Amino acid sequence: MRLLTGIQPSGELHIGNYFGSIKQMVEAQKQNETFAFIANYHAMSSGNGGKELAALTMQTATDFLSLGINPEKSTFWVQSDVKEVLELYWILSAFTPMGLLERAHSYKDKTAKGITANHALFSYPVLMAADILLFSPDIIPVGKDQIQHVEIARDIAIKFNNKYGNILKIPTFKIQEEVATVPGTDGQKMSKSYGNTVNIFGEEKKQRKTIKKIVTEQVALEDPKEFANCNVYTMAKLFLNEKELISLQNRYKAGGEGHGHFKIYLAEVMWEYFGDYTKQREYYMQNPQEVRDILNAGAKKASEIAQPMMQIIRQATGIKY
Ligand code: ADP
Ligand code: TRP
Repeated sequence: MRLLTGIQPSGELHIGNYFGSIKQMVEAQKQNETFAFIANYHAMSSGNGGKELAALTMQTATDFLSLGINPEKSTFWVQSDVKEVLELYWILSAFTPMGLLERAHSYKDKTAKGITANHALFSYPVLMAADILLFSPDIIPVGKDQIQHVEIARDIAIKFNNKYGNILKIPTFKIQEEVATVPGTDGQKMSKSYGNTVNIFGEEKKQRKTIKKIVTEQVALEDPKEFANCNVYTMAKLFLNEKELISLQNRYKAGGEGHGHFKIYLAEVMWEYFGDYTKQREYYMQNPQEVRDILNAGAKKASEIAQPMMQIIRQATGIKY
């Protein structure tokens, strides 16, 4: 199977990104052909780019490598290093009804939150369709929020194929049900754009402070507490095995401990979980040239697929004359 995913370099990686997408990719590397890229063109739709984008691109690449994306096993590159994607984006635009984009949740949610929309934000799903369809993957592992984007890519591909024959592979998405949406500190979906993230890397003290901010219900210390809908429990669940989970549930049920105690526990398990990755990250941070070399080699490998695919598409669409 071929799996493909992209991540925007729009801020520090958070545990929603990890459990919703990165972890699945890392695990998939063992038995599949995996493609992962840093979606830096996509990031321009919300930040307009600049020096910060360049720095975030390197930082996100460093973080991905530290978290276990293995360049020997995966094709790992920066989106803008394989320009064919922009050409395909335009061609696919001609197969994208306006209504399809007008119905996109991510666009609607962002505008509803007062984020001013530009054309890039509106047409974002078309670029994402190009990212996907250029490489003919079977599966896109994503969080719940991205399902609709993959569906849009499918719709566009079907329209294209109806006209030009079976050129584009129709992708499917894969979500991990239990981590489909990781909540943020405020209980909404964890997202960089909502400022409610618990980041994977960072100073221990700062992490603890963030975890302290997680919203929980008000219950007296001695009383039993609900775990099922508790944001602290939902996050801790991501890091725990069955036995640890039951023991945490019992602590909730027993009373006598407050949410503050559970937060301290969450901070501890999280710190331990990402400990080795943090060390790996320190290595890459000191060796940025190594990261650049990996990205260049990845772009070359990705181009070897993108270029012949674009030739076929140019030929079919009459762009090649
Ligand atoms: P953000 O919403 O913070 O900007 P991205 O949109 O860059 O995150 O998401 C990158 C990947 O991480 C996507 O596959 C997305 O589905 C996944 N993801 C992001 N937030 C969550 C979350 N809260 N729960 C599960 N997966 C998530
Ligand atoms: N839109 C995705 C996100 O915000 C990132 C992304 C861009 C992507 N292109 C992709 C994910 C292609 C999967 C496949 O999370």
